[in-house]
Amino acid sequence: MKYAPVRKAVFPVAGLGTRFLPATKSIPKEMLPIVDKPLIQYAVEEAVEAGIETLVFVVNHKKMAILEHFDEDADLQSHLLVQGKHDLHAQIRDIIPSSVSTAHVIQEEALGLGHAVWCAKSLVGDEPFAVLLADDLIRSPATGCLKQMVDAYRATGVGSIGVEKIPAAMTDRYGIVSVQADAKGRDYIHAIVEKPAPDVAPSRLGVVGRYILPGEIFGLLESVRAGVGGEIQLTDAIAALLENEQLLAHAFEGIRYDCGSRQGFIRATVDYALGHDDLRDSLLEYFATLV
Ligand code: G1P
Repeated sequence: MKYAPVRKAVFPVAGLGTRFLPATKSIPKEMLPIVDKPLIQYAVEEAVEAGIETLVFVVNHKKMAILEHFDEDADLQSHLLVQGKHDLHAQIRDIIPSSVSTAHVIQEEALGLGHAVWCAKSLVGDEPFAVLLADDLIRSPATGCLKQMVDAYRATGVGSIGVEKIPAAMTDRYGIVSVQADAKGRDYIHAIVEKPAPDVAPSRLGVVGRYILPGEIFGLLESVRAGVGGEIQLTDAIAALLENEQLLAHAFEGIRYDCGSRQGFIRATVDYALGHDDLRDSLLEYFATLV
């Protein structure tokens, strides 16, 4: 991977969100809030913290609420000002910094994550870029997961994929990587497989939705065939990329919540709520009445 700064991040947000039906019948799953902020905003904030300058949303026609969320809303802003709600006004005004731009592309058909990323090709060009899956919500102690990865990329010139150890029985829910450590203890990805059954999985290292990839991936996405679930898989293009390029497995610092599942979503809601000073004590009191 020729070094060039990571300036763009792709957010594939055209998925159907069937696990949250009926809530997601008309609301994109990425707009479901954890406490008071939609999932997509957490991912966008993580990208902005990592120095991303352009946010590329891959949407479908039913997901326009995501684009509206990041649009300026002058009426709401003046309304909040008139009401003297200055904190809220600042939050809405600064939802993304003015130095960061947004772009979007429509994914006409739900053909898979790989296809969604490929749809961003003309907006990304051939430079290295990030991919963030908003339903993987990652809460990091100090530095956000993508910034950790961008920092590693700056130091090594090698892209990476976020990984974490998962239970052996759950390999068929994730991309799974096997790694080889170099002398400095960096884990280079040796192989990657999409959702293998536990008995054939090469390891228990599961892919989480954070990637720094070179622009070459777009050419590979064009030639991969439909894989697991009949979908064009990003994992399969990454497997092809590994024939010529190195990628690191980034075991991030932080906790990942699988907000694509109800259990992960509820856990995230509880943990994030406990992180709010104005909610913590009353919630703990309430929990004490339950156990
Ligand atoms: C996608 C990827 C998979 C990865 C997962 C992380 O799967 O294809 O490799 O482990 O995201 O959330 P999906 O959750 O879209 O089925």
